[in-house]
Amino acid sequence: MGKTYNIALMPGDGTGPEVLSEGVKVIRAAAEREGFSLKLTNYDFGGERYKRTGEILPDSAIEEFRQMDAIYLGAIGHPDVKPGILEKGILLHLRFSLDQYINLRPVKLYPGVETPLRDKGPEHIDFVVVRENTEGLYCGAGGFLKKGTPDEVAIQESINSRKGVERCLRFAFDYCKQRNRSKKLTLCGKTNVLTFAFDLWERAFYEVARDYPTIQTDYAHVDATCMWMVKNPEWFDVIVTDNMFGDIITDLGAMIQGGMGIAAGGNINPEGTSMFEPIGGSAPKYTGKNVINPLAAISAGQMMLDFLGEKAAAARIEQAVMKTIKQDMKSMSAGKMGHGTREIGDIVKAYVLE
Ligand code: IPM
Ligand code: MN
Repeated sequence: MGKTYNIALMPGDGTGPEVLSEGVKVIRAAAEREGFSLKLTNYDFGGERYKRTGEILPDSAIEEFRQMDAIYLGAIGHPDVKPGILEKGILLHLRFSLDQYINLRPVKLYPGVETPLRDKGPEHIDFVVVRENTEGLYCGAGGFLKKGTPDEVAIQESINSRKGVERCLRFAFDYCKQRNRSKKLTLCGKTNVLTFAFDLWERAFYEVARDYPTIQTDYAHVDATCMWMVKNPEWFDVIVTDNMFGDIITDLGAMIQGGMGIAAGGNINPEGTSMFEPIGGSAPKYTGKNVINPLAAISAGQMMLDFLGEKAAAARIEQAVMKTIKQDMKSMSAGKMGHGTREIGDIVKAYVLE
């Protein structure tokens, strides 16, 4: 008998519940096929609950999550709630309090998926961004002086601790080694302008590199990284960067891999509870129409099983997703897939069970 994993489900807002239920369908099928069990517990945090009760995310829920093996998230963001409240109150709060210090974003173009990059195919677009997920500009350090007056000043500080940077770099080196492709790790920074923050990053990078003699080190400024991601994405294997730059380049990454319908990510605490999510957001205009692409959520489920150690189940899901794209889907865009959200979930599930 295989293991039982305790998973917190957080469907959230907008299309989150629709895509997450397809993800759940698929991970349940993979568990059945590979002989392990999933104990899923639902949590209704998100915009609707906040509007109804004023509650965003109680400490008691965070304590429950600590006991879980993983969190599987749909989407956070509600059109009636001021931007920032739910993002900070739920998503960032979870990342920080569960110390999910890595945001892992694979950028992989599957055969049959359209990329806006001319002359680039699956052999060119296959890299992973390791984004620091608990520091940098996201800490909320700073404040206002003379707010609301003509002399107003706003300060937003980037926090980069040696420990925080080093653990992120070590994760990236380990990940690059275990991924075993071209074994190249690119530090993405801005050493020519941010001469404090990225001086620390750069020194730590080359110091940690000494422990990984088989990994080739590489450096690119963030602006140049954007340029190369479009012009020569095949140059990248693993990119490691800070929180803010990572946020920006991963949306660019999502676009070159075929868009928000397919991009997934993990918020990882290698020693604690990690959280997996499709990165597309709550997409209010597609909500409830059975048109949104569930593949990003399904791929997030695949990443989750992979991180739980269920490698065969994860590989099975990836194969099923690739087969669905190749044989059954017209497009990755909402409403243009050739099938509805639930039907795509059913097709992937059927391939997983094969
Ligand atoms: C992401 C998102 C979040 C971020 C938002 C929703 C706070 O864009 O996961 O990349 O900026 O980290
Ligand atoms: Mn983002």
